[in-house]
Amino acid sequence: MRKLLVTGGAGFIGANFVHYWKEKYPDDEIIVLDLLTYAGNMANLQGLERESDYRFVHADIVDQDAMTSLFVEHRIDTVVHFAAESHVDRSIHEPDAFIQTNVIGTHNLLRAAKQVWLDIDNAPSSHRFHHVSTDEVYGTLGRDDPAFCETTPYAPNSPYAASKAASDHLVRAYHHTYGLEVTTSNCSNNYGPYQFPEKLIPLMIVNALTGQSLPVYGDGSNIRDWLYVEDHCRGIDLVMSKGTIGETYNIGGNNERANIDIVKDICARIDAVFEKHPEHAEAYPDAPAANGTPTESLITFVKDRLGHDWRYAIDAERSESELGYAPIESFDTGLDRTISWMLENESWWRSVTDGSYRDWLETNYD
Ligand code: NAD
Ligand code: TYD
Repeated sequence: MRKLLVTGGAGFIGANFVHYWKEKYPDDEIIVLDLLTYAGNMANLQGLERESDYRFVHADIVDQDAMTSLFVEHRIDTVVHFAAESHVDRSIHEPDAFIQTNVIGTHNLLRAAKQVWLDIDNAPSSHRFHHVSTDEVYGTLGRDDPAFCETTPYAPNSPYAASKAASDHLVRAYHHTYGLEVTTSNCSNNYGPYQFPEKLIPLMIVNALTGQSLPVYGDGSNIRDWLYVEDHCRGIDLVMSKGTIGETYNIGGNNERANIDIVKDICARIDAVFEKHPEHAEAYPDAPAANGTPTESLITFVKDRLGHDWRYAIDAERSESELGYAPIESFDTGLDRTISWMLENESWWRSVTDGSYRDWLETNYD
């Protein structure tokens, strides 16, 4: 039985991971650590209500003393590190929090892990620090460039990507210098339930349902490689169970799409769902689809993001051949699942977008 610390476990991918892990390894003890920034949400852990499902610790990974105490108090032997500031647009306008959380916070966790796992006598018999990172550390690709592989040189372009690159290097250094048992995964763009509606796919769905414009940056030709979040969780599980200590593994979806095609695809699916289920028109009267207007009419081309990376693509060959990784969800089924989830979970996205969740949080967590 492992004692797993999941940092950022109330965020999008972290919460999906907690659901995934609890289902697959019900006997493991899970400690969810989260600062509950704007992106963290206790409702993302809904359905895990039994006391034995997980324990929650409200803390900041930038607080070194709190991190060391946590490792000691809970006898943590495994860390899966998701906690981060994760939105590129925010990093362009306010980079400080990205340096604090992604760089200093990751270093504090590594230092606490080293102290408790390597420097004292009664350390757990085995340990693992798994670091969750992104393909954005590799920079941007041209149309004909080969996809990113594990040996692609780092060339981060946004403050977000640079802060994640720094954290990846720290994880590597703690293995090389001190022998900390680490693995790292670099994954492409995720989508699915519980994603905060500031990222492309959930933002477009919420805006389409509420009749707001669908802002496409630049000419919409930028390409991302999309992966359904559960497939990312499976990939992390494989790296943790079969990966070589000290190594990095790329996880991707083999699913490159231009932003404008994604947005049009979402519009077409929403039109089709409203046509098939006229009851949605009552629930979402402001959606163009509610009165038969194509959702595409909301698409608006806006000023491009500063330093906007043009293309990301992951070559996951190493994970496929060494770990047996392969995504299960197709983009077709994954996007349908995501749209259905958003239609069925209106109260979730309304509460995170209208501020009512923050009010609840303030009265429940100081
Ligand atoms: P998210 O923004 O949805 O969640 C981040 C979580 O971290 C939130 O719950 C937040 O409250 C918590 N957090 C932030 N600062 C903290 C701090 N100082 N102390 C403790 N908790 C803190 O992000 P996400 O999309 O779930 O991404 C999770 C991880 O996966 C990140 O490390 C990100 O870089 C990586 N990643 C994300 C994607 C993607 O497409 N979203 C792709 C590849 C890798
Ligand atoms: P995003 O979901 O922010 O992920 P990332 O920047 O980490 O890849 O954005 C995905 C792509 O969608 C990116 O090329 C920027 C673009 N985008 C828009 O065109 N409009 C939007 O409103 C957002 C949020 C993103």
